[in-house]
Amino acid sequence: MVIYYSATGNSKHVAIKLHEAFQGKLVDVCNFEEPATFYLEDGETLFLVTFNCFWGISNHMESFLQKSGFNNVSKIVVIITCGGYLGGGDASIEKLFLEKELPKPTVYALAMVTNYSILHDIPSLEIQKRKLIHAEKALSKIIQGTQKPYRSSWLIRRLTPNIHARYEKARITSLFTVDRSCIRCGLCVKNCPVHAIETKENKPFWVSPKCDNCLRCLHHCPVAAINYGDSTRNCLRYTYESCER
Ligand SMILES: Cc1cc2nc3c(=O)[nH]c(=O)nc-3n(C[C@H](O)[C@H](O)[C@H](O)COP(=O)(O)O)c2cc1C
Ligand code: SF4
Ligand code: SF4
Repeated sequence: MVIYYSATGNSKHVAIKLHEAFQGKLVDVCNFEEPATFYLEDGETLFLVTFNCFWGISNHMESFLQKSGFNNVSKIVVIITCGGYLGGGDASIEKLFLEKELPKPTVYALAMVTNYSILHDIPSLEIQKRKLIHAEKALSKIIQGTQKPYRSSWLIRRLTPNIHARYEKARITSLFTVDRSCIRCGLCVKNCPVHAIETKENKPFWVSPKCDNCLRCLHHCPVAAINYGDSTRNCLRYTYESCER
């Protein structure tokens, strides 16, 4: 079984590749309004794919995992996609599964292309493609079982809570804006995994003070009308699909 959460397609691509290799169910967390209970076949591996979020996992993913039930689990493999560095992201996911009295997961870090345009520039299309070729090779090694699992150092684990604490501030939605170029297609409203956006006269506005900060709305907007403060203005948008084309 492969469970995934993806905003801009990196983790979705990885999940699809794992599913092709190992079969079983392919589960998109965004299709679940409520936490669920999952049953695995005898000996089946539970694969989890999600994106790195301030050296941890996002609020939506964390709460889905905390509240969902997992039965007959003997082995867990977690792949955390990231823009470059996972920090102590492995420690937080290990803790989460151990708190649920599930087996300790084997964690892999997979550097792909960053979508965090609030802090970093999105690389050019040429560099994106190069990074994804590299990621594809690493993913093949994970699937073949020849890639070394990721293990953060003791020091990084000590620093991780401080880094991840910054995510709470990043979740504030008041800095989202919509430009006049908005064509009122409603895609951002439809796609938001936590229903933080609504429309007034077809124009989107944020109804929740905090969201998951996944940036799905910002990167998928067909006319790049969504920004977060000024930092994302004049910044490229990124989706795995657009890079693959
Ligand atoms: C809120 C947020 C925080 C992020 N923090 C990190 C980080 O600490 N380190 C990193 O390498 N990438 C970070 N990223 C980049 C994503 O983890 C990376 O682009 C990921 O592959 C996106 O996956 P997706 O396309 O499946 O959504 C962050 C992205 C978001 C939206
Ligand atoms: S996705 Fe973009 S164009 Fe469509 S409604 Fe939202 S902001 Fe407007
Ligand atoms: S409002 Fe945008 S960034 Fe926030 S959770 Fe929804 S899609 Fe993600």
